[in-house]
Amino acid sequence: MRRFYLGLAVFLSLGCFTLASTFMEKKTIKQVMKAGFAGDSSLCKKVVTGEATDDEKKAFLDLLIDLVENDAPKGDELQWKTASGKALLAAAKVVSGREGATAELKEATNCKACHDVFKGK
Ligand code: HEC
Repeated sequence: MRRFYLGLAVFLSLGCFTLASTFMEKKTIKQVMKAGFAGDSSLCKKVVTGEATDDEKKAFLDLLIDLVENDAPKGDELQWKTASGKALLAAAKVVSGREGATAELKEATNCKACHDVFKGK
């Protein structure tokens, strides 16, 4: 009987793992843009203006992790990691409550500055 429970436990944890990885699959840059940047009430805007809740700040940080882990359709690869990494670092500072972090994030999430260099047509 003990074996059975052990087997069941393994089975369930494997199941959870598979389920989790399906939901946590990396988002593409386009998906990140739609989920966190586009629109007047975007997560980005909320975090930068200081209106975001702690959960929203974390959700935005999570999106930026996917952003950095992608490769940009245009521009130099290392420069992309630096530019997107700056946004990620600033968002991490916002989550941990560092002073001046929102200003830093605002600068690092300048839409046009980044699109001019890394966004394709
Ligand atoms: C760190 C760089 C970076 C910043 C900052 C950034 N973007 Fe983007 N964005 C990109 C890249 C790269 C693409 C092109 C993605 C592709 O074509 O695969 C893109 C594409 C988009 C798209 C098109 C998505 C689609 O489905 O084609 C929208 C909309 C967008 N960005 C909105 C914004 C807005 C609004 C902001 C500012 C609040 C912003 N982005 C800031 C890098 C950035």
